[in-house]
Amino acid sequence: MNDQAASLRELMLKRSVPLLNEENLVQMKKKNLARLIAVSSGKGGVGKSNFTLNLALKLHASGKKVLVFDADMGMANIDILMGVSSRFSLYHVLKGEKRIRDIVQLGPLGLPYVAGGSGLIELLTLTEEDIDRFTSDLESLAQEMDYIFFDTGAGLSLENRRFIAAADECIVVTTPEPTSITDAYALIKVMHKQLTDPVSFSIVVNRVENRREAEKVSDKIGLVAKRFLNATIPLLGYITDDQHVMRAVKNQKPFTLMYPQCAASRDMERIASGYKELPSPLKQNTQGFKGFMNKWLKKTI
Ligand SMILES: Nc1ncnc2c1ncn2[C@@H]1O[C@H](COP(=O)(O)OP(=O)(O)OP(=O)(O)O)[C@@H](O)[C@H]1O
Ligand SMILES: [Mg+2]
Repeated sequence: MNDQAASLRELMLKRSVPLLNEENLVQMKKKNLARLIAVSSGKGGVGKSNFTLNLALKLHASGKKVLVFDADMGMANIDILMGVSSRFSLYHVLKGEKRIRDIVQLGPLGLPYVAGGSGLIELLTLTEEDIDRFTSDLESLAQEMDYIFFDTGAGLSLENRRFIAAADECIVVTTPEPTSITDAYALIKVMHKQLTDPVSFSIVVNRVENRREAEKVSDKIGLVAKRFLNATIPLLGYITDDQHVMRAVKNQKPFTLMYPQCAASRDMERIASGYKELPSPLKQNTQGFKGFMNKWLKKTI
């Protein structure tokens, strides 16, 4: 980045992200804000939505407070995977017709979710007032949650980059296919270079034959990330390639509910148990929801 671009960027960030002072730091610490997790991938169709939904369900069933937010602005479909039809979506909130609380609907097992909607991209230019209203709505919701998962679209579109930049952490889903691996690395590389605040990246390898295959994929990404980005990208888990997943999708039921004992469901159980034990990423609570919303809605990435 040249000097001019760097200072312009710095200026933009200063204007849109409130600086942390002692008062709001104390406020942030008092609040129990949810951990914000973007689930992303380089290549499409690798299993992000199924992973997000089933991980959320597992955490929800174990007593955690979880919200799934369909953040795929192009093809929102988490409700289709759950077999529920949503009356309201983010579209109504961004248009100012509904408050965010009114559009949180309950999926299987009573899992709270926010449905996405097409045509959201045009709405992402909002007034300061809209953003403030939206921020405080979402913040009050986040105080009641442990985790908020954003199921993003694939690739490096501006909306996806904004979601990743705004989250505390990003789980990158890949399959063992070389194209999926290289696209996953490309996403990590681009984001790593663009981010001003750290986002913790981790990898989930989906559709593997066995654990060894997942480790090979993770080692490949890990090695290049260490060498070229000096970043450590841990393997969060792996999911077996399992016909039950496709069958459950066809039936519009989450696979962990329809086939709780299948290989993929057992893998999800292991991932969920490990995930609950992970310490929160460092970034959490430094800027809170205001920071999140600023980065998401005001073009700071
Ligand atoms: N572990 C698995 N075993 C077998 N098939 C799987 C597995 N995971 C996903 N699939 C198949 O891949 C399809 C795509 O999954 P999903 O919709 O979750 O991907 P996605 O990454 O969210 O896609 P998009 O990029 O379009 O949002 C599923 O419908 C299912 O058929
Ligand atoms: Mg998806």
